[in-house]
Amino acid sequence: MIIKPRGTMDIMPEDTPLWQYVENKAREISSLYGFGEIRFPTFEQTELFARGVGDTTDVVQKEMYTFFDKDNRSMTLRPEGTASIARSIVENGRCSDAMPLKLYYLISCFRYEKPASGRYREFYQYGVEMYGSESACSDASVIALADAYVKALGISDYSLEINSIGCKECRPAYKKALTEYYMSNYDVLCDTCKGRLKTNPLRILDCKCPQCAALAKDAPKTLDFLCEGCRDHMQTVQDSLEEMGVAYKVDTGIVRGLDYYTKTVFEIIGPGEPDKDGNVRRLALGGGGRYDGLVQEIGGPKLPGVGFAMGLSRLIIALQMSGIELPKKPAPVLYIASLGKNAQTKALSVVQKLRLDGIYAESDLVGRSLKAQMKYADKIKAEYTAIIGDDEIEKGKAILRNMNNGEQTEVEISALAEFFTKGGIK
Ligand code: HAM
Repeated sequence: MIIKPRGTMDIMPEDTPLWQYVENKAREISSLYGFGEIRFPTFEQTELFARGVGDTTDVVQKEMYTFFDKDNRSMTLRPEGTASIARSIVENGRCSDAMPLKLYYLISCFRYEKPASGRYREFYQYGVEMYGSESACSDASVIALADAYVKALGISDYSLEINSIGCKECRPAYKKALTEYYMSNYDVLCDTCKGRLKTNPLRILDCKCPQCAALAKDAPKTLDFLCEGCRDHMQTVQDSLEEMGVAYKVDTGIVRGLDYYTKTVFEIIGPGEPDKDGNVRRLALGGGGRYDGLVQEIGGPKLPGVGFAMGLSRLIIALQMSGIELPKKPAPVLYIASLGKNAQTKALSVVQKLRLDGIYAESDLVGRSLKAQMKYADKIKAEYTAIIGDDEIEKGKAILRNMNNGEQTEVEISALAEFFTKGGIK
């Protein structure tokens, strides 16, 4: 048997209502905050991610699905959306639009990671990007949107954590202090981080190796190295969040794994999930921040941006852990069981009329026995059932049974559809 690639998922009809719920809420809230939907290619020239995301990041170095097309050009399945959107707005001449330019997306992404609970090789993101404002109010507004979205879904066990990683003015001093710190602990570092020390010491802070993670705890903190502009910016983000009533924590450990960030970075950390060894792993439901140099980095004009992306599968795990009632595949209002060919056609025509009136109904299409049809009606949790046979067709009437309380009503078959549309049952 051919099976799906490792780290991918099949989502079955009983599970899709939960995905649609998360997606519909994303669309609703994006509109409320004035974001328009953008769609863009699933694959891009590899160079876009190497330059945009950063060629010393794990995403670019280890996790990209890169292939050569038939013209021998290097292409990569998008590992995220931010770099593609920056490319898209430059290419489509949107950098001179009225600002801020506010875009949202619901996309699949591809990263060659080790699959685990909440970690896939093909996964889904809801993200937003806001361009054209350097103001800390835009950071706060995007963070408030992320927070409102998680709340609107019904997830309450999460924490919003923010930090600032400075700008190109103050980052060099921080990198210097970080390099000195790690140089003095060189022997403890894993081999990968020994290499990172030369190329991008900030990335050592994301290393998952126990010895590097332990070292990161005492490493110099970005907040102690911010220039005055970055300090003011961070303060205004915090003041604005407080003014809006958005609860947050400052976590100096958040540096994010992608290179384009400047100043504000943040993550929404979800509820803990015990792994197979019983250690509680708290997954990031989403993350984002400001990226003032990205558009220039990929060859566009100077245009600041701020945004975030949420992992849909992780939101779904958090929803399942939250104990709230989750959306289910809808059950039909009516199931019409039929006896004989004429009745089967009659049932189909009533069902068709109901569906055209916006009511979900089902009838037998596979020629089951009456007993099997009733069993099936029960299985699909039909609210009402009706049985139509030759007698009922002759009389023009059928018995309608309320499956919840067993009440029965005789109804004209020709008025069955109206019974639901006008009879106040719906
Ligand atoms: P990211 O932190 O790499 O940021 O991904 C955002 C979210 O996508 C994560 O918090 C997580 O929920 C989800 N995610 C990431 N990798 C996986 C995976 N392998 N399996 C399942 N879910 C995953 C970005 O992608 C940035 N582009 C966010 C951003 C937008 N920054 C500014 N604008």
